[in-house]
Amino acid sequence: MLLTISGSLREGSYNRMLCRVAAEAFGPAKVVVGDLDLPLYNGDLEQAEGIPAKVQLLADQIAGADAIVISAPEYNKGISGVLKNALDWVSRTEGNAFAGKPTVVVSAAAGRTGGETAQFMTMACLLQLQAQIISGPAVLVAGASKEFSDAGALTNDRYHDTLKTRMAALRAAIKA
Ligand SMILES: Cc1cc2nc3c(=O)[nH]c(=O)nc-3n(C[C@H](O)[C@H](O)[C@H](O)COP(=O)(O)O)c2cc1C
Repeated sequence: MLLTISGSLREGSYNRMLCRVAAEAFGPAKVVVGDLDLPLYNGDLEQAEGIPAKVQLLADQIAGADAIVISAPEYNKGISGVLKNALDWVSRTEGNAFAGKPTVVVSAAAGRTGGETAQFMTMACLLQLQAQIISGPAVLVAGASKEFSDAGALTNDRYHDTLKTRMAALRAAIKA
């Protein structure tokens, strides 16, 4: 099972689109789309009510995934609050859902660096969570509003080819 995680909740999110294109490039697989619409992490809430059901579901999806793709939007040269909040919640669940999970991080952003800073921040968090980060040529979709067709396809072959390379490496990491 391939789990895709977009760090943007927006319906028309380019990172959501990038997740879809990545899943297609990954090839035949059951694809599960993670839902990051979670309450804000609050230690008092955790103590009073435990782990919210939606957080536990996400952690279970991560633990059950063969491979994970995360697409990170960039907000003010950093990781989106939505994505960081999800990683923080998951880190509070039993076990270590991300440990050893083959994971590729990509990004799409309005700016010219394609979300590079957010992508690196996401990988820094994933290192802490002991994910198996599958590295390779970076997929940094810059000026994202011009890079997707109305149907949500990546229009620039360079991005698409790089994404295919990364997805092949992700698939190979499962077999390894
Ligand atoms: C609060 C906020 C901060 C942003 N900061 C950046 C930024 O630092 N770099 C950048 O390239 N784009 C920035 N943007 C533009 C986003 O890249 C753009 O909105 C992008 O479409 C967000 O991803 P999404 O389409 O997946 O929602 C920012 C947008 C918002 C709302």
